[in-house]
Amino acid sequence: MKKGIFISVEGSDGSGKSTQIENIKKFFKDKGIDIVFTREPGGTQIGEILRNLVLDKNLKEMDDMTEALVYAAARAQHVAQVIKPALNEGKIVICDRFVDSSIAYQGYGRGLGESVKIINDFAIAGCMPDVTFLMKMDPRIGRRRIKADQQDRIELEKDDFHIKTFEGYLELERQYPDRIVGIDASRTIEEIKIDIYNKLEDVLKSVVE
Ligand code: ADP
Ligand code: TYD
Repeated sequence: MKKGIFISVEGSDGSGKSTQIENIKKFFKDKGIDIVFTREPGGTQIGEILRNLVLDKNLKEMDDMTEALVYAAARAQHVAQVIKPALNEGKIVICDRFVDSSIAYQGYGRGLGESVKIINDFAIAGCMPDVTFLMKMDPRIGRRRIKADQQDRIELEKDDFHIKTFEGYLELERQYPDRIVGIDASRTIEEIKIDIYNKLEDVLKSVVE
């Protein structure tokens, strides 16, 4: 029985996700509310091993479906070992990327479509975020913010892949307007933070009511 609040943060590479996650952590810290922060791929020992595997830029031969299954496998472990137990204890879980990343990157970016949703339905076992912040910014601009030598196997993909991925995110935003909060990430860090804080206040109010 889920009692906690599950918040995920999504967006293209370089869209300012990590920057705003630091602000989200500060929001809860300032209120004296403990949170569980975690990330994908990763969040568990097994997940971090799978992360290193799936992001290794030397593994150029990785098949698209293998990639989708590795992300889903890391997620299955993450949900079972970290996210579900924390939510069952009534905790607030903040996750840097979750299943929407797979739908956008593997479903739309790689073009694997519906199969990505199906394999992930097994991985998440009914565990979906209550709120998802989607950092929306032209992925070509976001990418320029990341130094070339720091780009992983996915970030090194061509613009076309990142544009299709971004279009996937926009489609998800249209499909799930009650869950996904689109954020115009082309503004200043401070402006974006204010939007996110306002939404987080609403989320906390809805729990108290
Ligand atoms: P992500 O986690 O989405 O890859 P980061 O938060 O690491 O993105 O941001 C990538 C780079 O862009 C960093 O150098 C960061 O300081 C910068 N950045 C983040 N948000 C903004 C913003 N709103 N405007 C300009 N630069 C930003
Ligand atoms: P991320 O941790 O956001 O990268 P970094 O912090 O190094 O910027 O994510 C790693 C990459 O994995 C990113 O390019 C998005 C990709 N990804 C997928 O393709 N599918 C997924 O299901 C997830 C969770 C991430």
